[in-house]
Amino acid sequence: MASHVPPIRQHSPHLPFGDHQTAPLYGRDILSVKQFNRGDLEYIFGVAHEMSEMVRRVGTFDLLKGKILANLFYEPSTRTSASFTAAMERLGGSVIPINEVRYSSVSKGESLPDTVRTLEAYADVIVLRHPEVGSAALAAQYASKPIINAGDGVGEHPTQALLDLFTVLEEMKRLDGLTVTMLGDLKFGRTVHSLSRLLTLFNVKLNYVAPPSQRMPEEIVAEIAETGVPQKETPNLEEVLAETDVLYVTRIQKERFANPDDYDAIKGAYVITPETMKQAKEEMIVMHPLPRVGEIAIEVDTDPRAAYFRQVEYGLYVRMALLAMVLGKA
Ligand code: NCD
Repeated sequence: MASHVPPIRQHSPHLPFGDHQTAPLYGRDILSVKQFNRGDLEYIFGVAHEMSEMVRRVGTFDLLKGKILANLFYEPSTRTSASFTAAMERLGGSVIPINEVRYSSVSKGESLPDTVRTLEAYADVIVLRHPEVGSAALAAQYASKPIINAGDGVGEHPTQALLDLFTVLEEMKRLDGLTVTMLGDLKFGRTVHSLSRLLTLFNVKLNYVAPPSQRMPEEIVAEIAETGVPQKETPNLEEVLAETDVLYVTRIQKERFANPDDYDAIKGAYVITPETMKQAKEEMIVMHPLPRVGEIAIEVDTDPRAAYFRQVEYGLYVRMALLAMVLGKA
């Protein structure tokens, strides 16, 4: 053999092997938006954008073939549950759906730690929605597989905030320099708790418009004040509508009221109509995590600024990205 021929390399670096263990979210829980920095968001949104292209091009592809998601929902859900299922299936994985915990051993009194320790024996990742604040963090203490918080009572809803921000980015092409007005039940609405916190990573202005009983919790306002992001509270949408780039509407969270009369007293406090839209900027968007129960008149749906159903679709791509990332495939 000629002596100048280089030896054949023993360890080929060409074929991907196993999981991408150095990826920023590999093996991690997603519990709160507080865990993310701008770099993480850039990565997640980059992957989500690629997911949208892949869905458009091929619909379904086998990035997560063989992986299993346990979808564990102790509270009602349409979008969050269905979009995690769709995300997993579009990536070639499969789902154990436990949407009706009353048919599971939870109804026999099984504790959350026992339920998640059971499910992680079958699955690679667990998505959890639960009525108690801190439940996802509790589950994560016991599980060694990634736990994704899909809403913990009035606490947080981090994947919703990520898809909300991705929606703003895709629709408005920027995040810095925007005025975001949150409207509705800012006290019990977990989506706005997560979204307001996540927005502090950007150069934004936040307005909170709520009935006096449903104002943004003081501890969140104080937390955000520390970041230097300007905040304004008012019960009057008219005061801030004209300067608003993103109007984020939420429903009054009926199920969180101890006294139904308190809910009845404020339901219907704000309704966005075509008349409202006339006073808004030409270039702005209206968002809503959905479900809506009358806060946005259906006549607004045909306004090009109504972004809430597009927001639903962006949610699929963000959840595809998150699943691929925590499972080490992106
Ligand atoms: C939200 C939730 O569950 O917090 N829904 C959702 O996940 N899109 C908002 C709501 O229920 O009002």
